[in-house]
Amino acid sequence: MVAKIVIDKKREGHALGSAEIREFIEGYTKGEIPDYQMSALAMAICCRGMNERETADLADAMTHSGVCLDWDGLAVPTADKHSTGGVGDKLSLVIQPLAAACGVAVPSLAGRGLGITGGTVDKLESIPGYKCAQALDRFREIVGAAGVSIAMQTEEIAPADRKLYALRDVTGTVASIPLIVASILSKKLAEGAGALVFDVKCGRGAFMKTREDASALASALVGGAKAAGRKAAALVTGMDAPLGFAVGNANEVREAMRVLGGEKGAMPEEAVGLCVELAALMVSLAKEMPLDDARSLCREKLADGSAKAKFEAMVEAHGGDLGAFESLLGRPTFKFRIQAMKSGYVSEIDAEKVGRVALSLGAGRELPSDRIDPLAGVTLAVQVGDRVATGAPLATLEKSARPDGLETAAAELYKAFRIAPAAPEPVPLILERL
Ligand code: URA
Repeated sequence: MVAKIVIDKKREGHALGSAEIREFIEGYTKGEIPDYQMSALAMAICCRGMNERETADLADAMTHSGVCLDWDGLAVPTADKHSTGGVGDKLSLVIQPLAAACGVAVPSLAGRGLGITGGTVDKLESIPGYKCAQALDRFREIVGAAGVSIAMQTEEIAPADRKLYALRDVTGTVASIPLIVASILSKKLAEGAGALVFDVKCGRGAFMKTREDASALASALVGGAKAAGRKAAALVTGMDAPLGFAVGNANEVREAMRVLGGEKGAMPEEAVGLCVELAALMVSLAKEMPLDDARSLCREKLADGSAKAKFEAMVEAHGGDLGAFESLLGRPTFKFRIQAMKSGYVSEIDAEKVGRVALSLGAGRELPSDRIDPLAGVTLAVQVGDRVATGAPLATLEKSARPDGLETAAAELYKAFRIAPAAPEPVPLILERL
């Protein structure tokens, strides 16, 4: 394999052979192919695309660039759910323990947030003591003992993706479906779960802004996972407005824990329904059970406290202290509440704008090195479609570090809300099933 010939071939729009893809990725991972040649190939892929077979080969090569876990020793089937990320997306904190409560082992390696989309690792690390960084052997032990572990991707998992993603980030080559699919799949396939469910977010607060792109990504993820021998399904779900009430870290964990605790109204019903649907897909695929039966089982395990017990077992196994988390939530913070300036119906809550405000308060990071304020964030008091009177609370902004910036952020947050004289047409959260 000669790197330049492979680059030329893709630039001219030809399909690459399986061996060419594998050897290129192997060479890049070992440092034998330099960044400039990898960037040239990534750009050629961006412009010319890849067919399904090439995408599957790329995912496979990236998966095998590091350690691949297997769960053959477990007595129960395995599944995981991956979300492409959105604003207020704390659903993994409910879904993963819920699927575990239904008798599916859930090995889930997650990432940190960057930009407006939060990361599950950051949310969990707002629980004092919760250690997401675990050696893979310990990750295996936790999954075996607690039935579920949400930990952080390690250096050994898909190292080609870590290197390539950093390169794509600075070479304008992120926006390519085959590269995104191979990137996401390499991490999920290496994790070893037998069934994979993808929640592909679509809208203002998501990576994929249009239905067309989100559908294409969802279909390519399912196709790629199946080509790798996994059971797979996907939902395309709306991300024009934040998911649930809380956007931040500790406040999102609190919202998820309230759902696990069976508290009515803790999260909008439709978002709870999405948790059940995604967990049911995991259970149905992993246990080869009709989806309706899996849904009923999930509803039962959410209501009887089994999912909450799984969450608590996971937190304990990761060193987290839920008592200390309660104390953290009770700590004084600087708060600012915004209210409706007119009466009417909430017709829009722009997820991207809310995400930017939460980020500016310290709930996220602009740069990988930024530190997060776990108590910073936005908690909505309303959802799209709600009727509000003048002066009704719309949202609370919160941060613990210093009060500076709160008023400016509040002015920005106002811009995320639109209040209309008539109720908006309801748009379902689940837009498509694959
Ligand atoms: N998330 C990933 O993991 N990889 C991409 O390429 C894009 C989003």
